[in-house]
Amino acid sequence: MSGPLVVLVGPMGVGKSTVGQLLAERLGVAYRDTDDDIVAEQGRSIAEIFVDEGENAFRAIEKTSVRHALAGHDGVLALGGGAVLDADTRGLLAGLRVVYLSMDVEEAVKRTGLNTARPLLAVNPRKQWRELMDARRHLYEEIATAVVATDGRTPEEVTQAALDAL
Ligand code: S3P
Repeated sequence: MSGPLVVLVGPMGVGKSTVGQLLAERLGVAYRDTDDDIVAEQGRSIAEIFVDEGENAFRAIEKTSVRHALAGHDGVLALGGGAVLDADTRGLLAGLRVVYLSMDVEEAVKRTGLNTARPLLAVNPRKQWRELMDARRHLYEEIATAVVATDGRTPEEVTQAALDAL
């Protein structure tokens, strides 16, 4: 196994799972999502892991999960929105085809609203989105081999743009 065909990164709510599944269908390969792997392995939700153990512990779990998925999957792989925060995790992506699905802050607020299932957005979503994007944008750009803007586009249009960018 030579690693995933495509890795999708980008902020939560940008559509990594929807686009990832469409992309996998179009490419005739399997789809995998490290958030799902973590929930299955841990037997609890991501929100519960954040509450029980905090973000740092979650990032350590996530790093292991990304490493396993990269070694064991050759289709489309979507990473959690914050996976890029960890330098080791970013290092694991070197040499892979990494598509960054981007969106602007207003689009993010509109799409995710007050989604309390996402612990990082529980209060004041606009301010938190701004801070989150400011902290992460350059990390996504650093590892991406292609950037696909999703603002105002349907999942099908984003999928086509991602295919065109491969
Ligand atoms: C996170 C994004 C989430 C999930 C966790 C933390 C983040 O993944 O890993 O809630 O830090 O941006 P999605 O991007 O799949 O929602």
